[in-house]
Amino acid sequence: MSIEMTKAEVPGVPLLEVRDLHVEFHTRDGAAKAVNGVSYTVDAGETLAVLGESGSGKSVTAQTIMGILDMPPGRITGGEILFRGEDMLKMSEEERQRIRGDKIAMIFQDALSALNPVLSVGYQLGEMFRVHRGMSRKDAKAKAVELMDRVRIPAAKERVNDYPHQFSGGMRQRIMIAMALALEPDVIIADEPTTALDVTVQAQVMDLLAELQRDFEMGLILITHDLGVVADVADKIAVMYAGRIVENAPVHELYKRPAHPYTKGLLESIPRLDHKGKELYAIQGLPPSLTAIPQGCAFNPRCPMAQDVCFTDTPPLAEVLEQDGGPIGGRASACHFWKETIHG
Ligand SMILES: Nc1ncnc2c1ncn2[C@@H]1O[C@H](COP(=O)(O)OP(=O)(O)OP(=O)(O)O)[C@@H](O)[C@H]1O
Ligand SMILES: [Mg+2]
Repeated sequence: MSIEMTKAEVPGVPLLEVRDLHVEFHTRDGAAKAVNGVSYTVDAGETLAVLGESGSGKSVTAQTIMGILDMPPGRITGGEILFRGEDMLKMSEEERQRIRGDKIAMIFQDALSALNPVLSVGYQLGEMFRVHRGMSRKDAKAKAVELMDRVRIPAAKERVNDYPHQFSGGMRQRIMIAMALALEPDVIIADEPTTALDVTVQAQVMDLLAELQRDFEMGLILITHDLGVVADVADKIAVMYAGRIVENAPVHELYKRPAHPYTKGLLESIPRLDHKGKELYAIQGLPPSLTAIPQGCAFNPRCPMAQDVCFTDTPPLAEVLEQDGGPIGGRASACHFWKETIHG
């Protein structure tokens, strides 16, 4: 089946699905298991936030989807990446390139290093249309101005020939968003898109991204370790720890009642105005070394709830239910004691 034929929404088939993905890196200390069975999905018009501490495998998963994983030392040791139901890891290189160029785009944290410093932003934006759409120079430039307008760069027409360093950090990030939008992709992966910006600019860029995602009905995978950013824009959240998803939940559910002690710790460590003066909670200890992930639950050395079973058995990512056993929908936790965590 060709990609074009599957273009229409197929009921029950997610737009993008990562299924049981495993990625490791060859290191002097052995295999660093960066991604250990990650599964998630995103649909058209939906925002999935991927949360987790530094080193939990958020970016490596994204790089694997985009085909920009460093190989070697990286190696995909298992799993599937399904775009509209077709496994990209099994496609011909040509087919894969077409999807990654046209259908899935990525926004990186650092716009300055992602943009070419010696080419004007108009040229770089226009290149998308010249190379991928075969447009003339003149038409491509007009499209570049249109896009710059769309991401609300003031005086786009006058600034189209400026170079990246002539823009502020926030404006550069808008240009990155414009580049990602150029070919009207179905999915955008934004990896810490606002981390390098100051707080007010962060909010503006995030609002813009959320607005464009809605207008274009795209699937958005938003990678961040900032729980505050996520609340307003995400539909659902996947929390990662040591290369695994430890909790899945619709966004408001997660904030209200986390079902994994790690998520609970993350939530309790956000500064809150109504807790002014109180000491801020921090999860004790550090994430494990990926060459020596603890047996059982990887979170066990840091978990205030850990019991014997947590040191021997790896908890599966299991469906989370209401106290009476009824369904909640869209919730799962990889904790032996999810019941106690959410209801206890
Ligand atoms: N090219 C590489 N070579 C070796 N190890 C790598 C490489 N890229 C990533 N890793 C390792 O894989 C693990 C997961 O990294 P990843 O970048 O996915 O973390 P992350 O969750 O995105 O963290 P952050 O929040 O800091 O961006 C880390 O331990 C990292 O050191
Ligand atoms: Mg990262």
